[in-house]
Amino acid sequence: MIKIIITSPVSDRHLSVAPGDSLMTALRTAGVEEVEAMCGGAAACGTCHVILSPEWLARVEPPGADEEAMLDCIDGREPGSRLSCQIGLTLELDGLCVSVP
Ligand code: FES
Repeated sequence: MIKIIITSPVSDRHLSVAPGDSLMTALRTAGVEEVEAMCGGAAACGTCHVILSPEWLARVEPPGADEEAMLDCIDGREPGSRLSCQIGLTLELDGLCVSVP
C-alpha cells in the first residue's frame, strides 16, 4: 500500500491506497471532493490540480505536452503544480505529500 498525505483548505487527511491507479482516482475514491476531475482524467479540465513539493516533484514522471498545456491555463500555477490524473501511483511514491489548492 502507498501512504498519501493530503493538505487542503478543507482538511488534512492521510490515505492508504493500492498502487496502479492515478493519484486523481485515489483522491476521488477517498472522497477528496476538492479534486473535481471533471474530464475524467483526460488532462483537459485542470480541476484535478495538485501541488507537490520539490522533493516529490523530482520523483514523479515529468509532465507531457498535454499536461503542460493544461497547466498553463490554470490560475495559480506554481512550480510544483501537476495534474493528479497524470500521476501514476507506484510503490516508490509511498509517503507522497500532496497539497490540494
Ligand atoms: S481530471 Fe481533468 S485534467 Fe485531470
